[in-house]
Amino acid sequence: MTSFPPAPDAPVKAVPFSADDQAGLYKAIFNRRDIRGQFLPDPVPAEVLARLLTAAHFAPSVGFMQPWSFIVVADPEVKARVHADFEAANQEAALRFEGERREAYRKLRLQGIREAPINLCITCDRDRAGSVVLGRTHMPTMDLYSTVCAVQNLWLAARAEGLGVGWVSILHPRRLQDILAIPRRVVPVAYLCLGYVSHFPSRPELESAGWRARLPLESLIHFDGWGGGRGEREEASALLAAVRREMAEREEARATAGSDEAGG
Ligand SMILES: Cc1cc2nc3c(=O)[nH]c(=O)nc-3n(C[C@H](O)[C@H](O)[C@H](O)COP(=O)(O)O)c2cc1C
Repeated sequence: MTSFPPAPDAPVKAVPFSADDQAGLYKAIFNRRDIRGQFLPDPVPAEVLARLLTAAHFAPSVGFMQPWSFIVVADPEVKARVHADFEAANQEAALRFEGERREAYRKLRLQGIREAPINLCITCDRDRAGSVVLGRTHMPTMDLYSTVCAVQNLWLAARAEGLGVGWVSILHPRRLQDILAIPRRVVPVAYLCLGYVSHFPSRPELESAGWRARLPLESLIHFDGWGGGRGEREEASALLAAVRREMAEREEARATAGSDEAGG
């Protein structure tokens, strides 16, 4: 029996990562992409998939609820059923746009379900920790957000391993539950396509296709309340100037990313 509270483990020193380690983390963040059409058929070794799932499992979760489960899909027949549902949902989605926007939508590639060697459905069991969960009382959707944290951990770890991930949300959730035999109380949060890729695009494909541009970060920052303090305070101006520099650096790095990635 463990005593409660258990004896504390030795704390980890609060020092920053080495410059190389920091660079690796930021590289994964900035070079991660949503992948649709670049999957290679190369199999994903069990050890690699195990590392990605472990990274996902170490995500933060409300009340340490760990509401996620992982359905690994490799059977082409199961993938074909999910793909058929994507086709139906995508037709419906296209009709939500008008005129030229609809035509532009139809030209977008929005999934790699059949080509990716692995599909992965990450679910959220809303009852994983009983009906009362520390931290979820007033914001019941926190378990869903926790599951998204697991998705992002996996997405970044995959990028570091040289694997691409594409998130497919153009699916009917109930149909997906039926195809994958997911109980009704368990929410399919993310359906992911996963595998090695021919290359990583240097910018979001929706941006390259002219669908939507990255917003200027400085326009999204507020001080002490929505819309507050912009340009009126020294620390606000200093932060906004630093953010502009940082974003300019990112744009510059992106321009050279192609040659960097080509060299591995
Ligand atoms: C919750 C979520 C759902 C998404 N669903 C889809 C999808 O159904 N099809 C698709 O092609 N991309 C999907 N994406 C990927 C986004 O289009 C992509 O993240 C965005 O365009 C930015 O590109 P990047 O991820 O390459 O930076 C989704 C992303 C998120 C976070």
